[in-house]
Amino acid sequence: MNILVTGGAGFIGSHVVEKLLMEECHVVVIDNLSTGIRGHVPAGVKFIQMDICSEELLDVFTKERFDAVIHLAAQTMVPVSLNKPDYDCQVNLLGTVNILEACRKTGVKRVVFSSTAAVYGDVDNVPIVESAATRPTSFYGLSKFSVEKYLQMYQQIFGLEYVVLRYANVYGERQGDGGEGGVISIFTRKINQNEVLSVYGNGDQSRDFIYAGDVAAANYRALMTSHVNGIYNISTQTEVSVNQLIKILGQIAGREVQKQYCPVRQGDIYRSALSNQAAREKLGWQCEMLLVDGLARTYRDIRKGV
Ligand SMILES: NC(=O)c1ccc[n+]([C@@H]2O[C@H](COP(=O)([O-])OP(=O)(O)OC[C@H]3O[C@@H](n4cnc5c(N)ncnc54)[C@H](O)[C@@H]3O)[C@@H](O)[C@H]2O)c1
Repeated sequence: MNILVTGGAGFIGSHVVEKLLMEECHVVVIDNLSTGIRGHVPAGVKFIQMDICSEELLDVFTKERFDAVIHLAAQTMVPVSLNKPDYDCQVNLLGTVNILEACRKTGVKRVVFSSTAAVYGDVDNVPIVESAATRPTSFYGLSKFSVEKYLQMYQQIFGLEYVVLRYANVYGERQGDGGEGGVISIFTRKINQNEVLSVYGNGDQSRDFIYAGDVAAANYRALMTSHVNGIYNISTQTEVSVNQLIKILGQIAGREVQKQYCPVRQGDIYRSALSNQAAREKLGWQCEMLLVDGLARTYRDIRKGV
């Protein structure tokens, strides 16, 4: 299979490329390196430095004749989306429609799209199921949700198959500290440099932390499983509090972690966990990495870079 991975030089993209190579797929990466790193793309993988909004994208599709696209390239930062909604819309919505048009014109069969728990916004009941109401509280959540709707319509009108994967907070090796879900990369870097961790609120707020290798495996299942057009949460379905997270990281680092409690940040949600039942049942995927093992890998990776 000839697969295009957009954003393949990024954090999650690099795990996806690794997984596809293990499964002996032919992989091409398109990335403009706005946050991605060229060195994250394994040697031997064809790399094209290009913006997904570029008019030349169609030429690449025409030449390469992809069977499927795993689309991860995005503006990923909620605060950026709030300060520059036009930029967020340009990359996340118009850039994606540019890709969908290239798919339609060159006979690509399937698109796997990286969406986010941010499409749900604040929800009272956890774990959140895919049918829950969507009330994004940022332009980032809104642009991702809009793409989901475009994918549904491309499927209805042009028969382009799609799988939307809504990720919980992803962590793992090679994560930058700017994007979504960066609390683990921020904490591991600070612990490594013996800095004090800032905890907003009392630390009892919870998140659902999913390892990037498990997310990559979900992308592969979404690519390979037939008749699964639709939306799937990719998560551990488990709530972990920030205080619990700090305790585990302290055990891994082998020392007491210094932390300070700060006022709650406006807009932060208190509890978060996504149901992963649909992905288990329909995609045959399951989350495999234990948090303690995934955190140990992430911490080792940070130390390597010292
Ligand atoms: N990290 C998380 O916890 C999380 C959670 C939910 C969803 N996601 C989604 O997963 C995807 C990957 O996120 P990530 O955390 O790996 O972020 P990342 O910033 O590491 O990766 C994004 C990649 O896209 C590239 N890119 C950005 N704009 C581009 C453009 N206009 N043209 C071409 N390439 C472009 C960047 O250079 C980068 O390599 C994104 O779509 C993000 O919204 C991430």
